[in-house]
Amino acid sequence: MNQLIVNTRRSKGTINKNIYGQFAEHLGRCVYEGVFVREEDGIPHVNGMRKDVMSALKHIRVPLVRWPGGCFADTYHWKDGIGPKAQRSTIVNTNWGGVTEDNSFGTHEFMEFAGQLGCDAYISGNVGSGTVQELSDWIEYCNMGGVSPMANLRRSNGHEEPWHVRYWGIGNEAWGCGGNMSAEYYADEAKKFSTYMRNYDPSHPIYKIASGSNGADYHWTKTVCERAGHMIDAITFHNYTVTYEWEKKGRATQFNTEEYYRLLHRTFSMEEMVENHSRIIRQYQKPGHRIDLIVDEWGTWFDVEEGTNPGFLYQQNTVRDAVLAGINLNIFNNHCDTVVMTNIAQMVNVLQAMILTEGEKMVLTPTYHVYDLFQGHMDARQVESYVATDILNEEEELQVPRLTVSASEKDGKLLVTVVNLSEGEEAEIAVQLSGVKGSSVTGRCVTGGMGDYNTFDAPQTVGITEVKATLYPDGYSFTAKLPKNSVSAFEVAEA
Ligand code: AHR
Repeated sequence: MNQLIVNTRRSKGTINKNIYGQFAEHLGRCVYEGVFVREEDGIPHVNGMRKDVMSALKHIRVPLVRWPGGCFADTYHWKDGIGPKAQRSTIVNTNWGGVTEDNSFGTHEFMEFAGQLGCDAYISGNVGSGTVQELSDWIEYCNMGGVSPMANLRRSNGHEEPWHVRYWGIGNEAWGCGGNMSAEYYADEAKKFSTYMRNYDPSHPIYKIASGSNGADYHWTKTVCERAGHMIDAITFHNYTVTYEWEKKGRATQFNTEEYYRLLHRTFSMEEMVENHSRIIRQYQKPGHRIDLIVDEWGTWFDVEEGTNPGFLYQQNTVRDAVLAGINLNIFNNHCDTVVMTNIAQMVNVLQAMILTEGEKMVLTPTYHVYDLFQGHMDARQVESYVATDILNEEEELQVPRLTVSASEKDGKLLVTVVNLSEGEEAEIAVQLSGVKGSSVTGRCVTGGMGDYNTFDAPQTVGITEVKATLYPDGYSFTAKLPKNSVSAFEVAEA
């Protein structure tokens, strides 16, 4: 029996709903086909946004979407994507497959998409190949309510009211595809861009997000915070999980037990990075000025599916991805005192996607179902949780804890999410509640064979199933049996 403790008397604060944020780049079939369709595609839509995908995304209450990239952001000139569609520039998407980008999905379409979803918009500005004036104009275009050149331009394109976009990225991966800059050079650029990123309405201040490090590059975080920390609200880092190394990413669906554990072992680097980056940013926080931590790209990155365009980063998504998502989301919940937003890469048809599409067909991935199970953590009060677990496997590179956990409470309900990483064994758990008493408990989980996945012909192979949970008569503990390689969510109604 594995012992878990959930203690509602200690909390690190609120789990920002934006931890459950998404990322949609002009890459492969994420935006075009994945979200946005044309009349001639014959797919049901509302103002271009496909109905099936939107309805699935609404179900998991996506709080925020980052757009237009990624690497694409630092080649994107937003004025190419406004005005009558026939007059928009056609460009080449040089980062992703060299395909034609007709700019039919631009600022207005993105804001329509966010409006239909009811989520916040996070726009990544172009620092690498753009100008300070361009980004300054974009903010004015989106956020200026009165009379000004950009506000007037927006009105002439059919949108009277400002959108009040709050989240603005100062470039993306400035150390790589965003300009190959040093941390020192980028810090100066960030200050320059930030100077001209204006607030147009005091009741809707913007939030400036500095491009962060490549994984564990702590020099980057330290340098940017030291030099530009007073002019930013948050700094990011990106951390993808591959099976072996960047040159040997592994396959999404064809893997053995060793590779299952190897990938999961590697994803725990997220915890170390979150803790180390957090420690650094705390040194540069001043009274009245926080610097938050954002992980605006993360997830699995495998070799593309055979026969697909290598530049489109299309991969399948198995129960192993679901387990990995659960591990990372538990890590983020447990560090909600510094991590305020994360954006899994990417929302549809790219990398660790929520949804895959093929023409008019759509399928939900195991990762989608994990986001469904974890919904209740959004804007809930994180509470302390602990699991007394053992470590699986002898070989260091394969070692992982058997179980991970996070917990939160909101509106008289406690949500406890537990991941069972064991590929071979079920796990019996006894969860002791401290500071709270339950009146009932229900359990749901995502599980299956480690390599199971959903296809367009068999879309229900992996879904959400019930897990039996038994509350003790005194209301202070419950037990359950977790299936092997599973992600479970227990909802306890507080007495
Ligand atoms: O998500 C795919 C790419 O990964 C993004 O465009 C880039 O920022 C990162 O390297």
